[in-house]
Amino acid sequence: MTAPQATPTSVHPDGKAEVIDDFDAIAGRYDLLTRMNPGYLQHLRWSAERLRLAPGARILDLCCGTGLSTRALMATYPDAQEITGLDASAGMIRFAMDTLTPGTPRPRGLARLTTLPAPKTRANVRFVVGDAMDPAAAGATGPFDGILMAYGIRNVPNADHCLAALLPLLAPGAPICFHEYSVADSKVAKAVWNAVSLSVIAPLGIAATRNVRMWNYLRESVNRMDGVSAFERRLAAHGFTDIETLPMSGWQRGIVHSFIARRPRS
Ligand SMILES: C[S@@+](CC[C@H](N)C(=O)[O-])C[C@H]1O[C@@H](n2cnc3c(N)ncnc32)[C@H](O)[C@@H]1O
Repeated sequence: MTAPQATPTSVHPDGKAEVIDDFDAIAGRYDLLTRMNPGYLQHLRWSAERLRLAPGARILDLCCGTGLSTRALMATYPDAQEITGLDASAGMIRFAMDTLTPGTPRPRGLARLTTLPAPKTRANVRFVVGDAMDPAAAGATGPFDGILMAYGIRNVPNADHCLAALLPLLAPGAPICFHEYSVADSKVAKAVWNAVSLSVIAPLGIAATRNVRMWNYLRESVNRMDGVSAFERRLAAHGFTDIETLPMSGWQRGIVHSFIARRPRS
């Protein structure tokens, strides 16, 4: 585990500074809220498994947040050589380190909100504060045998800029999984998403965090996200190959997807 700088500073990407500020502010409540979302952890596990990585892999967890997606990777790949979690929010990274590093003292107030047991596996995990638009600048230089980006690509200021930075971080032939909401291609998916978001996610989120802007942003950003076919075309335009989109279960079916793609072998 690599220690963070003494005072880690969140990255504030152009035009989306408020997103990072909001994640900083709710870091201590994030795990609690996601645990109330049925299927959240299981679906992260599916996306991790869908990478189908060999033992000894070097893995990047991009936009790792509090480390829930990192846990999915640690559980799926206990023999990974290295798992690097990167996030722009110092608050989220601090929480990830406090919960996934045995023996690290937790900041006051966070311990009682930690609802998940520490993982049993002892993967070589490190966390860095950095911008997903330029992971190499934060020391995540690759090459990686696999990248998981769960609920991240929708949040970066420029998805094309980000995708262009990610392709060269992958080893030739290596897979990437974008675990993400996408509803634009389906009227049913869009209706279900907006109903669940307005009637369950936003009220619970606002009650737990006292932050209205963040939950409005979540609903609107999902509505603005590429449809499945547009995102697949975007990946292909950036040179990714072997693109396939796999579903989730429960209320997230047709709403959250694993977008799998690869860097070409040559
Ligand atoms: C919804 S959380 C997902 C966390 C985790 N992957 C999970 O599945 O639970 C999205 C994360 O993306 C991070 N994020 C947003 N924009 C970012 C950027 N430009 N670079 C790095 N992280 C970013 C936020 O700080 C937040 O922790």
